[in-house]
Amino acid sequence: MDKIRIQGGRPLSGTIKVSGSKNSALPILAATLLTHEPCTIHRVPDLSDTHYMLQILVHLGAQVERASGVVTVAAEKIASVAPYDVVRRMRASVCVLGPLLGRCKEATVSLPGGCVIGDRPIDLHLRGFEALGAAVRVEGGNIKVFAPKLRGAIINLAGKFGPTVLGTDNVMMAAVLAEGTTVIENAAQEPEVVDLATFLNKMGAKIEGAGTRRLIIEGVPELHGAAHEIIPDRIETGTFLVAGAICGKGITVARAEPEHVQSVTAALATCGFRINPERDSISVYPNGVPKPVELGTAPYPGFPTDMQAQMCALLATTEGTSMITENIFPQRYMHVAELKRMGARMQLDGATAVIDGVDRLLGAPVMASDLRASAALVLAGLKADGVTEVSRVYHIDRGYENLDEKLRELGAQIERVKE
Ligand code: EPU
Repeated sequence: MDKIRIQGGRPLSGTIKVSGSKNSALPILAATLLTHEPCTIHRVPDLSDTHYMLQILVHLGAQVERASGVVTVAAEKIASVAPYDVVRRMRASVCVLGPLLGRCKEATVSLPGGCVIGDRPIDLHLRGFEALGAAVRVEGGNIKVFAPKLRGAIINLAGKFGPTVLGTDNVMMAAVLAEGTTVIENAAQEPEVVDLATFLNKMGAKIEGAGTRRLIIEGVPELHGAAHEIIPDRIETGTFLVAGAICGKGITVARAEPEHVQSVTAALATCGFRINPERDSISVYPNGVPKPVELGTAPYPGFPTDMQAQMCALLATTEGTSMITENIFPQRYMHVAELKRMGARMQLDGATAVIDGVDRLLGAPVMASDLRASAALVLAGLKADGVTEVSRVYHIDRGYENLDEKLRELGAQIERVKE
C-alpha cells in the first residue's frame, strides 16, 4: 500500500491541466451498454474507479480497449447480471442498472452498501424504474429489476436531501429506450448529468432540458454508437484552486470549465483571493489576508459537497471563525478528526463545522477515509510545517489522476512511498 509524504510550506506556482471528469466518465461508460454498436469516449481519466467500471463492462460481455485516455466499448452482446464480486468496490457501479434495464429489460446488480460519507440509499433510482413499469425486488443482496416493456411516465425524483445525480442518470438511461415520453421532475442539474444527456443524444436519444429541473425524454426504439469527449473534472479543478489559495503565489488551472466552478471561485473570492477566469482556465492569486466565510453545500449550481473537505482544509488556517454546513451528506466529516491531529481547531455542531483559524498546522501521520477527505489532508499537508504522511492513498487514486505528480509540477515537495 502506498502513502503520500509531503514536506509542507513550499509555495506553489505555475500551471496544471485538469483531467476528464470522473463523475461524468462513470455513467457515460455505463451508457455504452445501451447500444450494440461501438462507442469511443475521449478524455477518460486514468483512475481506479474508471478501471472498475471497465471491468464491470467486460464482465457483462463488452469488448473494451483503452489507450491514453481514449476508451472504446463495443457491447454487441451483453449479460444483465453484475454480481457482488464485480460491483462491490465502487458504489457508482449502481449506474449500470439503468442501461441494463433499458436494453435488456431486466437487470440484477448487487446492492451497494453504505459508505463512510453516509447511508447512501438508492430508493429514488428504484422509484423511477417502477414508474417506468419495472418490478423491483431485493433478493440475496441483489437488486432485480425487470419489465416486459418500459413505458414513459412522469417521475418526481426529489428526495429528502434534494435531487439525486446518479438517480437522474439511471432513470434517464432506462427511459431513453422506453415507449413514449418520460418527464423527470426535480432532476439533478449537475454538469455531469448534462454531459451524459449530450452523449445519449449523440447516440440517438431524444432528451431535452438537461441542466434544468425538468428532463423530457422521448423514447426511441434503439440507440447507435457515438464518440464523445468527457468534460473537465470540476472537483479536481476546485481542489487545485484551493491548493493555489492555501499556499500559492499564483497558480493557473488549465483545460478547465470556469462556469462549472463558479460557486467555488465565488467562495474563494469571498475569502479575499483574486480569481481570474479565462475561456478555459482559471487562475487564483493571494490578495492580502484571507477572510473567514460561512457557506453551505447544495446541489449544483450551489457549493459542491465534493469540495467541502478541501474548503475545511483552507479555512483551518484562515484567521477568524468560518462555518461550513454539509446539507447533502450530513455525516461527511471524516476529515475533521484528522485535521485536528494537525492542529486545526474545528468543532462539529450537527452538520455544521465551526472552524477557528489557527496560525499554522503541523505535519503528522494522517489517514485518508474517503476520496475528498484524502484530498483535504493533502492540501493541509502542503500548508503544514514539517512532514505529513497520508496513508490509504488508494482513496485518492479513485478520483485524482496523478495528484502527486501535478502538485510536484506546481513546486510542491510531495512523493509517493511504499508503506
Ligand atoms: N439520496 C437518497 N435516495 C437516493 C439517492 C440519493 O436519499 O435514491 C440522497 C443521498 O443520500 C444524498 C442526496 O440524495 O443525501 C444526494 O445524493 P446523490 O444521489 O446525488 O449522490 P450520488 O449520485 O450517489 C454523486 C457523486 C458524488 C457526489 C454526489 C452529490 C458520482 C459517481 N458520485 O453521487 O461524488 O458527492 O453525487 O453531488 O457521480 C465523489 O466524487 O467524491 C462523490 C462522492
